Amino acid sequence: MFVSPRRVRKCQFLQLFATCFILCLMFFWEPFDNRIVSHMKSYSYRYLINSYSFVNESLSVNREDLDRVSSYQYLINHKEKCQQQDVLLLLLVKTSPENHHRRNAIRQTWGNEKYVQSKLNANIKTLFALGRPSDHLQQRKLYLEDQKYNDLIQQDFLDTFHNLTLKLLLQFSWVNAYCPHARFIMSADDDIFIHMPNLVAYLQSLAQMGVQDLWIGRVHRGSPPVRDKTSKYYVPYEMYQWPSYPDYTAGAAYVISSDVAAKVYEASLTLNTSLYIDDVFMGLCANKMGIVPQYHVFFSGEGKAPYHPCIYNKMMTSHGHVEDLHRLWKQATDPKVKKISSGLWGRVYCRIVNIVLLCKLFYEDTYPCSAAFS
Ligand SMILES: *[C@@H]1O[C@H](CO)[C@@H](O)[C@H](O)[C@H]1NC(C)=O
Ligand SMILES: *[C@@H]1O[C@H](CO)[C@@H](O)[C@H](O)[C@H]1NC(C)=O
Ligand SMILES: *[C@@H]1O[C@H](CO)[C@@H](O)[C@H](O)[C@H]1NC(C)=O
Repeated sequence: MFVSPRRVRKCQFLQLFATCFILCLMFFWEPFDNRIVSHMKSYSYRYLINSYSFVNESLSVNREDLDRVSSYQYLINHKEKCQQQDVLLLLLVKTSPENHHRRNAIRQTWGNEKYVQSKLNANIKTLFALGRPSDHLQQRKLYLEDQKYNDLIQQDFLDTFHNLTLKLLLQFSWVNAYCPHARFIMSADDDIFIHMPNLVAYLQSLAQMGVQDLWIGRVHRGSPPVRDKTSKYYVPYEMYQWPSYPDYTAGAAYVISSDVAAKVYEASLTLNTSLYIDDVFMGLCANKMGIVPQYHVFFSGEGKAPYHPCIYNKMMTSHGHVEDLHRLWKQATDPKVKKISSGLWGRVYCRIVNIVLLCKLFYEDTYPCSAAFS
């Protein structure tokens, strides 16, 4: 395409101007650091500068300081879990000691290896990753639970919100040690819904194409660190001083290919792990290795996906399902779903329904409007 030199110069001028504008904002608006300003700063930073080379320089740590990271002992482990060769998906569910109801629900629905094996003809392995509870009784219960199901992996760090990055390291070091051959790895929260039939079909098609460098989920672009001290996600300047994070996928659910897992693991050994927001930390690791996340429109945000067969036909994940997990699993995997949306009229009908359900004026943070057109 032909672009006149004048136009190029104009663009460059605009970019220069915008960059100066942002820099001015950064210097002079520091005292008024409210949400809007920080979002403006971070988006502009993301779109104009978009370089996070400081991550490597500022957040790298010395080898000597690293021992502490890998020193958490396994309290429960299953080294043999992944011995089988053709594992399509290793599913790592982040859970907490007290959430045994959620784990049971997942074992009976989307995390059920036998279901996937018999109905979808694919091998998945499901493991629950967690830290240590604060009391012994709870730990005894976990040992008993694990005797029954053989699917917990647990390290000796306190299971708290601010130790989430340790849980991330647990997952990546486990993959590196015991399951480097799984084609894909998924990390998921224990309060989400995963449409396993749709996900497995999608991953099978990707595996056939020999896809590498894959990292998909709901991508956060140019998110600013939260500087509000009352927020759960508060990050002090000493921990992260820049206006925006590199792009990352929401920790609630994302999928990576095994080569990405290996690279992220390698990077995680060289970065300061004090940043306790696990998905942001993962983004820093990936950024250091030059890996870029891809947005999948049917990975949901914080909101629940609408209950409708036309949605079920394409959904991958939906957030915030605990009480309704069994019901949703039953409805969403019902063979009738495929029938409703097949054929020309089925497709037209579902297109209209999805537009009505997803393209709303007020923001619901489920799937974006564009998902209705995909
Ligand atoms: C990151 O820093 C290390 C040394 O701290 C250096 O060896 C490496 O090449 C750097 N990587 C990138 C991508 O800049
Ligand atoms: C994280 O776990 C370690 C090891 O158990 C513990 O000493 C520390 O207090 C925990 N950190 C937080 C913030 O809970
Ligand atoms: C990691 O960063 C924190 C500040 O967030 C700092 O206190 C700590 O010393 C750093 N650790 C290493 C090993 O550099």
